[in-house]
Amino acid sequence: MSEWQRTHTCGDLRPTHIGSPVTLNGWVLAIRGYPKQVFVDFKDRYGVTQVVFEADDAEVFAAAQALGREFCLSVTGEVRARIPGKERADIATGAVELVARSLTVLNACPTLPFEINEFGSELANEDIRLQYRYLDLRRKSLQNVIVLRHRLCKTIRDFLDARGFLEIETPLLGKSTPEGARDYLVPSRVHHGEFYALPQSPQLYKQLLMISGYDKYFQIARCLRDEDLRADRQPEFTQLDVEMSFVEREDILTLMEQLSAEILHTVHGLKVATPFPRLAYADAMVRYGSDKPDLRFGMEITDLTDLAAASEFPIIKSALADGGVVRALVVKGGAAKYSNSQLKPGGELPKVAETFKAKILLNAKATADATPDLLVKYFGDATHGPVRERLGVETGDLVLLIADKESIVADALGALRNHLGAALKLYRNWWDEKAEYDATEEAAAKKERRPAKAFEMKPEHFNFLWVVDFPMFMYDEDEKRHVAIHHPFTSPMDEDFARMESHPGECKAKAYDLVLNGSEVGGGSIRNHRQDVQSTVFKMLGMEADDAKARFGFLLDALQSGAPPHGGIALGLDRWCMILAGTTNIRDVIAFPKNKQARDLMSGAPAAVEPRQLKDLGIKLS
Ligand code: AMO
Repeated sequence: MSEWQRTHTCGDLRPTHIGSPVTLNGWVLAIRGYPKQVFVDFKDRYGVTQVVFEADDAEVFAAAQALGREFCLSVTGEVRARIPGKERADIATGAVELVARSLTVLNACPTLPFEINEFGSELANEDIRLQYRYLDLRRKSLQNVIVLRHRLCKTIRDFLDARGFLEIETPLLGKSTPEGARDYLVPSRVHHGEFYALPQSPQLYKQLLMISGYDKYFQIARCLRDEDLRADRQPEFTQLDVEMSFVEREDILTLMEQLSAEILHTVHGLKVATPFPRLAYADAMVRYGSDKPDLRFGMEITDLTDLAAASEFPIIKSALADGGVVRALVVKGGAAKYSNSQLKPGGELPKVAETFKAKILLNAKATADATPDLLVKYFGDATHGPVRERLGVETGDLVLLIADKESIVADALGALRNHLGAALKLYRNWWDEKAEYDATEEAAAKKERRPAKAFEMKPEHFNFLWVVDFPMFMYDEDEKRHVAIHHPFTSPMDEDFARMESHPGECKAKAYDLVLNGSEVGGGSIRNHRQDVQSTVFKMLGMEADDAKARFGFLLDALQSGAPPHGGIALGLDRWCMILAGTTNIRDVIAFPKNKQARDLMSGAPAAVEPRQLKDLGIKLS
């Protein structure tokens, strides 16, 4: 062992080490220089230790004065107790410090391109942090997330291994599997004009593994999708991909509930209740305007279409004449919370509805002196009473109504519901609660000189829901054809096998999504294991037999080779990690993410390549 190699980490030292000689390796977090002492907060991923350089050791003292932040050092010295009153309760090593006897600078660090600060407004601009991601990853909060992510993957592997699952890798260079996004293509040098597609998911391979007899498969798999990025979407993301043979929907839902409970238990020490509630897709859309409703708060949408039949109000009348619907949200006590300017076209709430193509957001405030009473105006003298009753309107409430095409009404009211839930704090993310709790505790601790208590995380911070009974097909107005709601390999319900061609719009799929706090954190289905059913589905999606054979001939052949009944699911690990770690930014949970424009700002990808490389691939840029 070299003399500079560590005996302990920066998180190890305790009063039991007092008097021991130790060597620590790490980085300079902060330096405080005084005439007779230099204090360095010395860090590695395990913790922080205070190192003291004393002036009576002239050589070491002089060397310490030349140190800068983020220098990489080896320090050898002796552990001693801190001066009484100078102990730090907030770090595990806070009772002791290391008095340096020798210092080796393993590597210097130039002036930092940004302040490596932790929180809020002190946090540097994200693009600069992504450019120097290796420095950003030295932040404690990011290191905590990386540790959490490891713990999550380890829990999953242990859980599935104990139940007889095999982790099997599948190709990255393969043939495109349609998952609804564009493919990333890789040109072949050997076969000019031909391309591999990077997998949007391992969907087809895992089904083929079932046909090969590997009845319990999983993979922590990288998936690549060229789609517009959002706060919870990356072009490269990770799934826990699972597939099982000889199972029904219940087997998969139960397994995933057990796994979810195990994850919450190992990561946060929580016991969540199983089974998770279930909601049919159609109910979710009518009652919450979303296929991934956040059930941490109520505020259900109410359908008023039947009561609106006699309405003479032009907007309602024309919406109904076009086959539309009328639905409403009631914001309890909302009349005083929203001003007329927030409610008029272009105001805060109508703007949310307009994003989803709603022509107009109608509103009615139930104030004691409501003149004119807008519900009377919208529904007429005879019907406003029953409307009020169905909505449960009380004085002080605000009613928001949309009369439009059904899909527009659902999407717009769903988005408004989410907007209102967050704006009115009808639910709290656990990390918002924690931040408030920490602030109060810190203030109390300062005043009363007592150590801060730990934040108590509760099972109700994690609201799980299954959305089931999805429609099999959706009609795409632009493409003038049916598209699959999940993917083309999803099985219709048994009773719908024979009705796919005659009643496609009424067929339901054996598909399910797992929703956690309003985020879709998983999705899967029972698959078509019969070749005839799979061929009919392809046909319904507008794929002629030849086309289906050219694209998926290998699957259709395999389905005729003793394919067992099978099904599975994929969990979005990045999204799981976000919710467990307490962030709304997917880039916080990936070591080397792309920015919002799908660029890796650190390495500079994507980038131009040498003309020679293009020539090898037979590619000419226009
Ligand atoms: P699906 O497309 O629903 O299903 O994906 C499964 C889960 O992966 C997550 N996810 C994403 N996470 C981050 N960035 C993205 N761009 C992204 N896209 C999806 C979501 C989603 O629920 N092959 C099927 C699974 C199956 O049927 O077994 C599939 O990929 O959390």
